[in-house]
Amino acid sequence: MMKKSVIYHQLLCLFLTSLSFSFPGKSMDRTRTIFIFLSLLLYGSTTGFSCVFSSESCRFPAIFNFGASNSDTGGFAAAFFQPKPPYGDTFFGMPSGRACDGRLIVDFTVENLDLPFLSSYLNSLAINFSHGANFATVSSTIRLPTADVIPQGQASPFYLSLQCSQFAQFKNRSQIIRRQGGIYASLMPREETFAKALYTFDIGQNDLTQSLFLNMTIVQVIAAIPDIVNHFSDNIKNLYSLGARLFWVYNMRPIGCFPQILTSFPSAKKDSVGCAKLYNRLAQRFNAELKNALARLRIEFPLATIVYVDLYSALYSLYTHPTKNGFERPLVACCGYGGKYNYGRDAACGETINVNGKNIMVGSCKDPSVRVSWDGVHFTEAANKFAFDLVSSGNFSNPPIPLKLACHHR
Ligand SMILES: *[C@@H]1O[C@H](CO)[C@@H](O)[C@H](O)[C@H]1NC(C)=O
Ligand SMILES: *[C@@H]1O[C@H](CO)[C@@H](O)[C@H](O)[C@H]1NC(C)=O
Ligand SMILES: *[C@@H]1O[C@H](CO)[C@@H](O)[C@H](O)[C@H]1NC(C)=O
Repeated sequence: MMKKSVIYHQLLCLFLTSLSFSFPGKSMDRTRTIFIFLSLLLYGSTTGFSCVFSSESCRFPAIFNFGASNSDTGGFAAAFFQPKPPYGDTFFGMPSGRACDGRLIVDFTVENLDLPFLSSYLNSLAINFSHGANFATVSSTIRLPTADVIPQGQASPFYLSLQCSQFAQFKNRSQIIRRQGGIYASLMPREETFAKALYTFDIGQNDLTQSLFLNMTIVQVIAAIPDIVNHFSDNIKNLYSLGARLFWVYNMRPIGCFPQILTSFPSAKKDSVGCAKLYNRLAQRFNAELKNALARLRIEFPLATIVYVDLYSALYSLYTHPTKNGFERPLVACCGYGGKYNYGRDAACGETINVNGKNIMVGSCKDPSVRVSWDGVHFTEAANKFAFDLVSSGNFSNPPIPLKLACHHR
């Protein structure tokens, strides 16, 4: 629970700020605005709180992440199958349960905040959760998956609502375990951690792509977006009721630039950089709805900080200016086989395939550090680092709060 004094403080700030904005224009009221502004400052200097945007770096005690393959640090691998080499080669030197050659945006996030890598909630062999937990799994959707679930199909059963119920369990049970003291206590977060932690979200792509691969038309997929986004909002509300206050939400990546999409829908019209226009427009449609939904949540929950992070635009600059940013061949998969985009559905990265009677391993390109797409669907560590550096500045966020200041209200 958030301390009572903090809630009173935030309510008072809100009240005073709203007073200063409720009389715009009239010169008589300018005095009143200045008076209220000065009392805000005085209030701050006497109580140690500040209503004005603070520039002090945050010390998040923990991160709780919800998402799919783009932020899974070992959940899917623990529950189902480990990826094969060359996954993990660049940073971990072996497969690390990540759909990448190295680190993901969530890894750069914890490094940047001086926290250890996040253990996956599903990983029973790595159980230090004192600084957070990761509920993301490969193939997760926001809505209950419509595609067949593993082991019959490819979809993950751990869709967003299930990840949130796992979090609810985690919150309760971790406190019971803490009470056993000793080493148990050191492996679980403190109770006050939950209100101060950063909650990060990176999910939605599979809701759209799984529908596309079930042969739904673009029009049908677009029609489903409002419902998908509503489900997302419901989960944020649920987490808020469980005590979460700081939300950092990534929007959808430019899926129309993925080797997987370009190969699967070869007749799609391309934009000036070679990405499939309609599929990027689909992502942008989702992003517009998501942005509106988060704006509504900000009104509903004035005590929360809810940041919308435009990862789409940060990553799209890798397609418009690859060379300037130190990259090459952004539309071609690094680890893959076949065709214009070095990608084939039956030639997944790390698998052994038969070509003209000869077995070959689908391996990595020479230098993943200058490549954008790792395996045709996921980005390389280099691209993840590039994107993290851009979005953590706050330059791509709404409201424009840098990561390190996201603990401050607004
Ligand atoms: C778990 O991680 C925390 C934070 O990094 C650390 O302080 C604690 O000692 C760790 N517990 C064990 C048993 O390693
Ligand atoms: C989608 O359409 C393709 C081509 O018509 C077909 O091969 C494939 O089986 C269909 N997939 C599903 C899930 O219906
Ligand atoms: C953010 O944008 C500002 C203004 O365009 C620029 O000066 C600054 O370097 C950017 N910061 C980062 C970290 O990209």
